[in-house]
Amino acid sequence: MSWWRDAVVYQVYPRSFADGNGDGVGDIAGIESRLPYLRDLGVDALWINPWYVSPMADGGYDVADYHMIDPVFGTLWDAERLIGAVHRHGMRIIVDIVPNHTSDRHPWFQAALAAGPGSPERARFHFRDAPNNWRSRFGGPAWSRVDDGQWYLHLFDAAQPDLNWDHPEVRAEFESILRFWLDRGVDGFRIDVADRLVKQAGLPDRPEREQLVPSYQDNGEQPDKDRPEVHEIYRAWRRVLDEYPDRAFVGEMWVTDPERFARYLRPDELHTAFNFAFLKCAWDARALREVVDRTLATHARVGAPPTWVLSNHDVTRHATRYGREDTRFVKRVHDVPTDLALGRRRARAAALLSMALPGSVYVYQGDELGLPEVFDLPDAVREDPVFRTGGRDLGRDGCRVPIPWGGDAPPFEFGTGGAWLPQPGEWRDLTAARQLGDPASMLSLYRLALRVRRDEPALGDGPLRWLEMGDGVLAFARDPGFTCAVNLGVEPVPLPEGRPLVASAELTADGEPALPPDAAVWLST
Ligand code: NOJ
Repeated sequence: MSWWRDAVVYQVYPRSFADGNGDGVGDIAGIESRLPYLRDLGVDALWINPWYVSPMADGGYDVADYHMIDPVFGTLWDAERLIGAVHRHGMRIIVDIVPNHTSDRHPWFQAALAAGPGSPERARFHFRDAPNNWRSRFGGPAWSRVDDGQWYLHLFDAAQPDLNWDHPEVRAEFESILRFWLDRGVDGFRIDVADRLVKQAGLPDRPEREQLVPSYQDNGEQPDKDRPEVHEIYRAWRRVLDEYPDRAFVGEMWVTDPERFARYLRPDELHTAFNFAFLKCAWDARALREVVDRTLATHARVGAPPTWVLSNHDVTRHATRYGREDTRFVKRVHDVPTDLALGRRRARAAALLSMALPGSVYVYQGDELGLPEVFDLPDAVREDPVFRTGGRDLGRDGCRVPIPWGGDAPPFEFGTGGAWLPQPGEWRDLTAARQLGDPASMLSLYRLALRVRRDEPALGDGPLRWLEMGDGVLAFARDPGFTCAVNLGVEPVPLPEGRPLVASAELTADGEPALPPDAAVWLST
């Protein structure tokens, strides 16, 4: 079976993973130094967020040179060495590709500015004499004016001009970028904003009402997203990828309509895509079961494996979300009470749930340590354009705080030169080193569960069968001989048949064997 059908993929946000050169920012040398940790954690692949030359107006999602590594992370030679080292550690490596927009420092955009209105250089972007009513995903209008009076489109920050995908040079350039990294041995690509590359011809206004829809909720074909023509791009990309054995795409699309989502996963397009319906779902048995059923049905139509995602570098960490009254992720909020102990308990159960479901699993760096969202960063250190543009949304820095590896004080062995975002002092109890020595820690749970998952023939890709254990319980069997049960209710429930393999909490209530609330168990049957 192809590796990507059931891979456990660990997301590395390089600025915050590990700092090898002591400048306070994570880098490739840091990643390399932690490969044994990732191997021992039991993940199959790494996905590295953008590491290309970038002014970092959006944490590297503003790329000025797709063929070069940003000096803050290292050199192209370091990247090549890392790819080899990942492979030697028995893992694979997926890199990010950012095709919707470049940086405003990209030579193409600089040339477009210099060449002026009506020039062929401007035709690679969307320049107009007047803007339409589109809004940037980061707040404010999606258009900025240049000195000669023309406007250019940017669905994200003004420093991220959108490329014109009707232009043949844009298409050719990205196919060549794919080959450049494939030739260096990467095992695949995570495609940024995969549903937005193509815009409706003529760039018509969006209907006014939709301007108010929060960014993580909108859906369906609109002038600036999910255009039918985008699929031709991925068919062409797939032909490129198929020239190399065993490579895979994972698409980032916030498209919730199952039929439209599945179109991206047809056999001649992308292999996999992030399952944001699962990430957004409440900690609620009925809602989760619906999402799982819908996910399985959606993917079955096209024969693609589902993915199970709980967190990433764009959303509030799930240990925090799950400790709230409203456990859904609708949009970022920062002023609601959180019971972090409850959130962590649920996060442990959610980890077992996600790893037992059919398909591939994503682990965002720090999930395995149970890191919470950090809300009290000083405004002055916040870098996210989401915060800089609006200020009301604190942005995404709080889920990007550097990893605490060891020691008793910041930067917790992240590096020797501090950390670009301050880590909370109480993270001394959450360091990887401390958790490794504690069999009850989140890290020990992840390591055990991933080891069992790897050895258990029933896990990974394949079917599941629901078991009925009452309203608040999600339970399913996987053949041969495996059961997963998650208690999302408020009362303990009897343990299902079988020999427990892994549990997220102690399997007792009032001294009797039971599956307590907010806990999950894997059993061999
Ligand atoms: C999605 C990425 O995950 C996010 O971090 C970025 O800001 C936008 N795309 C724009 O590239």
